[in-house]
Amino acid sequence: MFGNVFQGKRVLVTGNTGFKGSWLTVWLLKCGADVYGYSKDVPTEPAMFEVAGLREKVHHVFADIRNKASFHDYLHEVKPDFVFHLAAQAIVSKSYTEPFDTVTANVVGTASVLDAVKSVDWDMTVVMITSDKAYDNVEWIWGYRENDVLGGKDVYSGSKGAAELVIKSYWHSFVKKMDNIKLGVARAGNVIGGGDWSADRIVVDTVKAFAAGVAVEIRSPQATRPWQHVLEPLSGYMRLAQSLHDGMVTNGEAFNFGPRAEQTKTVMQLVCDIARNWGMEEKEAVRITGHVPFEEARLLKLNCDKALAYLGWHSALRYEQTVDFITEWYKAYYDGYEDMFGLTERQIQRFVETAKGEGLAWAE
Ligand SMILES: NC(=O)c1ccc[n+]([C@@H]2O[C@H](COP(=O)([O-])OP(=O)(O)OC[C@H]3O[C@@H](n4cnc5c(N)ncnc54)[C@H](O)[C@@H]3O)[C@@H](O)[C@H]2O)c1
Repeated sequence: MFGNVFQGKRVLVTGNTGFKGSWLTVWLLKCGADVYGYSKDVPTEPAMFEVAGLREKVHHVFADIRNKASFHDYLHEVKPDFVFHLAAQAIVSKSYTEPFDTVTANVVGTASVLDAVKSVDWDMTVVMITSDKAYDNVEWIWGYRENDVLGGKDVYSGSKGAAELVIKSYWHSFVKKMDNIKLGVARAGNVIGGGDWSADRIVVDTVKAFAAGVAVEIRSPQATRPWQHVLEPLSGYMRLAQSLHDGMVTNGEAFNFGPRAEQTKTVMQLVCDIARNWGMEEKEAVRITGHVPFEEARLLKLNCDKALAYLGWHSALRYEQTVDFITEWYKAYYDGYEDMFGLTERQIQRFVETAKGEGLAWAE
């Protein structure tokens, strides 16, 4: 898969202790990469980083991405072939309680990475991960395209839009003149999957409640989301890295990685489907509390035609498979299954097989 481009390569993942970073680490290890990590902390308790035993499987430092000198030195010590930049304050609710920290982690942190990149004298491919929230959300029904206006009315979205401007300006001022650097930007939306324990996420609240044998409390059962498994955008990030490395796509561009339209379901349906897989009676599984708006107000959809045209990428799993993957992972964890690294690897393998069945070239 991915043309074996990661085999035997040094790959640095910032934010490697987080939800996406942990899944990416397992996948890179499976591809034969030597993985290095740079993260401030282990963001949750429990955390997939610990549950899957990743601490023992990667080279890793705990340090702040805003510390320019520290990141510069680590980059030069590791001399990676690939960098995936995921370190960020990624929780929207926290951006309301810690707005300044969110801005510095997401904007100054991005500048730290790029400032170090401009001093690199070896060949390196960099994928900068931002978010679908980088787009100025005008609440229309159409999917946002890579050339739409960036912005953000809340601090988290603003910090992601600002990170994009920092990337663009470093790219034009420095990086595009460097023959040894390939750089791309990846924008994806909310993801779900086993191994997430972040605050204020419906799947996390659901599996925690079910593991305790109680109903999950939900406020907006009719809110809809385009549910996307974490492996979907990760396959996009890795495909983008491969394509940049092999000179198959234009250097310095952004790509959207979003789910198919039919993945959009209500919160109620997702919770009930997890309940059924978990072996809970639907009527015991959900308690609706508070105000119940009929529909989720904020529409934000990505148009992924560019990723399909230039990377041959689209998402692979059907909604039912996404739910199966999630339930299997958390149920195994809460039932005390010990080899969560092995289970994660097997889910990645099944994902790759599904992608092959869909004819996706990266999976060959
Ligand atoms: N999870 C999602 O649904 C989602 C959706 C869109 C975009 N993203 C983006 O993907 C990336 C990863 O998200 P995630 O869900 O894995 O987040 P997470 O909260 O699970 O993990 C965040 C990671 O960043 C590290 N980090 C945070 N602040 C740091 C700092 N100042 N210095 C060094 N490390 C720091 C943490 O230690 C952790 O490793 C983020 O850029 C996030 O904004 C996530």
